[in-house]
Amino acid sequence: MTIHPPERIWWKPVSGAERLYISAALLFTLTTFFLMPVWHFLGAQNPNMQTYRVDKAEYLQKVTAWADKYKVGERAGVPVVEPPPGGDVYLLARTFQWFPVIKLKAGQTYRVHVSSSDLVHGLSLQPLNMNFMVIPGYEYILYVTPTQKGEFGIVCNEFCGLGHHLMVGRLIVE
Ligand code: CUA
Repeated sequence: MTIHPPERIWWKPVSGAERLYISAALLFTLTTFFLMPVWHFLGAQNPNMQTYRVDKAEYLQKVTAWADKYKVGERAGVPVVEPPPGGDVYLLARTFQWFPVIKLKAGQTYRVHVSSSDLVHGLSLQPLNMNFMVIPGYEYILYVTPTQKGEFGIVCNEFCGLGHHLMVGRLIVE
């Protein structure tokens, strides 16, 4: 119980300033709501919806075989893999690692396969801030054409456990 209960005036008509505020908020909400489908076509940030069912163990096997075949080095115990320009790339998310380190050539379009071998992770390419959810049991295909040379971080943006903050990978573009 408050000492002075608020004045019971809520049933009175809203004032001009409040009406303006409510209208502005409603207009903003509706604009962003209708922008969602519009941005789906104009934003050019959407995955191509190419997704396949995959067995976790099978995907792990594919990534390992691919990494062994095109391995060019090692970084902190993780293989650095450089596939043929324009070829397939396999990236694996697992607690708490992105496997392997990938080396690509700028200007080439790669077919990047992404999957998880345990639970849900989130692929976030930094500092570009491109995000993609990775769900186990599904193999996602992303067509990637690196345009900028340098080293990019791949962080996990889906909380996946105690080592979530350690789940940092690397993408090298030459
Ligand atoms: Cu993987 Cu958080």
